Amino acid sequence: MANYDVIIIGSGPGGYVCAIRCAQLGLKTACVEGRETLGGTCLNIGCIPSKALLHATEMLHETEHNFPKMGLKVAKPVVDWKAMLAYKQDTIDANTKGIEFLFKKNKVDWLKGWASVPEAGKVKVGDEVHEAKNIVIASGSEPSSLPGVKVDEKIVVTSTGALELPKIPKKMVVIGAGVIGLELGSVYNRLGAEVTVVEYLDVVTPGMDGEVQKTFQRLLKRQGLTFIMGAAVQKVETTKTKAKVTYQKRKDDSTDTLDADVVLVATGRKPFTDGLGLDAIGVEMSERGQIKTDHWKTNVDGIWALGDVIDGPMLAHKAEDEGMAVAESIAGQAGHVNYGVIPSVIYTHPEVSTVGQTEDQLKDEGRDYKVGKFSFMGNGRAKANFAGDGFVKILADKETDRILGAHIIGPMAGDLIHEVCVAMEFGAAAEDLARTCHAHPTYSEAVREAALACGDGPIHS
Ligand code: NAI
Repeated sequence: MANYDVIIIGSGPGGYVCAIRCAQLGLKTACVEGRETLGGTCLNIGCIPSKALLHATEMLHETEHNFPKMGLKVAKPVVDWKAMLAYKQDTIDANTKGIEFLFKKNKVDWLKGWASVPEAGKVKVGDEVHEAKNIVIASGSEPSSLPGVKVDEKIVVTSTGALELPKIPKKMVVIGAGVIGLELGSVYNRLGAEVTVVEYLDVVTPGMDGEVQKTFQRLLKRQGLTFIMGAAVQKVETTKTKAKVTYQKRKDDSTDTLDADVVLVATGRKPFTDGLGLDAIGVEMSERGQIKTDHWKTNVDGIWALGDVIDGPMLAHKAEDEGMAVAESIAGQAGHVNYGVIPSVIYTHPEVSTVGQTEDQLKDEGRDYKVGKFSFMGNGRAKANFAGDGFVKILADKETDRILGAHIIGPMAGDLIHEVCVAMEFGAAAEDLARTCHAHPTYSEAVREAALACGDGPIHS
């Protein structure tokens, strides 16, 4: 048994960042993790492995489609699936070992095992009970299931199984046109699978800017993905090697079926708090299974929560920000997260990114706004790189010109969004971005042109 200032339960991006910052602020800190490796879903079975497969398959696409256009003659690339999975595993290992190194460097103790909280101030790991003035629940989320669909992680898989399929399927059905469905659907489409996405709503990526949604779906269709929209999957039946997906169309209630070798269930995630014993000690939860918090404090003194187990977008970087804020709050500083400026990125090709409000949200609020839009077709660098699909859209207050949101679909959208994030943090006007010199030729000029479009107009369109 040991005494700590803080014990953090879970070593995902929220938990490990919180642990490192606690230690940096002089608190005696431990982090409990039951997996064999640190890093949680993000590093082990989420963001990092999926980005490795997205990168590898994007290179494949580039070689097959754009090399000849640039005068590069190479033999048709051959996919060695085993080697690609090994590259993905190496990427995971390098990242999870990196967290282990950071824990050692910052003197954070890793308590190995699954934790429970028998009472406030105590954390049980295996047979040992440790004492802590503060306990932070950062136990993350797990895929949510769908009635009538039994996941076996072989034929019917979540993102976890989809990242380690033994072979590339010929036919894949993806349930849900959200972030996971479209990222992993893209991976297998590029690898030659026939991918059909079945989505309940009439649009992809719910909550995103409407124009981005339409352009995104059009571009993915052009790449070969098939979409069945406005259809609710009702059940999935399996044999030893195949699946049959039954869906019902919302417009006329008629049903239809699809055959598949693999079905990816990507219909959302839910908070993971199993085995912690939070009910028994009276920690308040919402109907959606999230831990209720006020500035990351639960209703039980000394117990905090952050990341996917609490309200807000289930994003690694949102959890990281909360991790730092909780550490600062425990250390007596003013922890702060600006929930109005949390970017969101989809790492397909082209990438999609968004920050702040959408037009629909501004309309609902009755706010007067203006739109500055610029197509990547007008960007010299994008033209040279066959990356002219997509646009940057900046929304600004009609009267004050303050930036209210940005929505990008196009090359490096996930990186470009951050100059708008910084501008928004500083309460910038679109004119501030427009008057900032941007190097030529870069994709970032498209962001500046969209900002110019909020004023006297862009130059290159
Ligand atoms: P999601 O919430 O993004 O999308 C789920 C989709 O499934 C929705 O469009 C919904 O309408 C649809 N759906 C639900 N039930 C259905 C049914 N019976 N039939 C057909 N469609 C149905 O969930 P997703 O993609 O599973 O992602 C989970 C979480 O993980 C999200 O919060 C996401 O932000 C996060 N994530 C973020 C990533 C990123 O930032 N790049 C990458 C991967 C995950």
